[in-house]
Amino acid sequence: MKLVAPSILAANFNRLGEEVEMLNRSEADFVHCDVMDGVFVPNISFGIPIIQAVNQISIKPLDVHLMIVNPDKYISDFFKAGASIITVHYEACTHLHRTIQQIKSLGIKASVCLNPHSPVALLEDIISELDMVLLMSVNPGFGGQLFIENTYQKVVALKEMILKRNLKTQIEVDGGVNFEVGKKLYESGVDILVAGSFVFNANSPIETIAALKKL
Ligand code: DX5
Ligand code: ZN
Repeated sequence: MKLVAPSILAANFNRLGEEVEMLNRSEADFVHCDVMDGVFVPNISFGIPIIQAVNQISIKPLDVHLMIVNPDKYISDFFKAGASIITVHYEACTHLHRTIQQIKSLGIKASVCLNPHSPVALLEDIISELDMVLLMSVNPGFGGQLFIENTYQKVVALKEMILKRNLKTQIEVDGGVNFEVGKKLYESGVDILVAGSFVFNANSPIETIAALKKL
């Protein structure tokens, strides 16, 4: 099944409630929430109170992407705010196994994200613990950037690692997704597409989400 997680980073924050209600009416599978701390990435987005507010309106599960240092400190807060999936960055975790266990102990899905420069082989000794892997296809920090082509081969290598071990780990890709890129990503083995500006800048975000699922 092809899944789509629109990123509300590209939503109009003046009317965030309406944007979330629009996602409720759409075929979106998740609401992707990009949390940035201005330390791990050169931008600051939003945090726990906004996620809590989105969760009060959303009927879709929240896919929370933590672009923050020291995520361990805030995992239980993001869980309480309503996260169904928590993604931490490989590059931000010194004790990744411990962090993953902490997320899983809350009964929600645990996921690790790799920056564009981090090879998928880094996940060989943790992959069996993961519900999802998020591959960044842009350098994290901003929406609306150009897709990095090298991502396709990372998807293929990661899919091979997952299948070889008979795992059900899902692959999500984040950054620069449009119809052309999305189609190739699904063909390469991606399960979930994140799309920010492509969805929210479209004339009809609802139709764009539906079309992404049909690629
Ligand atoms: C980037 C974020 C992405 C971003 C994607 O740091 O993690 O989720 O919102 O935006 P687009 O789809 O516009 O590249
Ligand atoms: Zn993201």
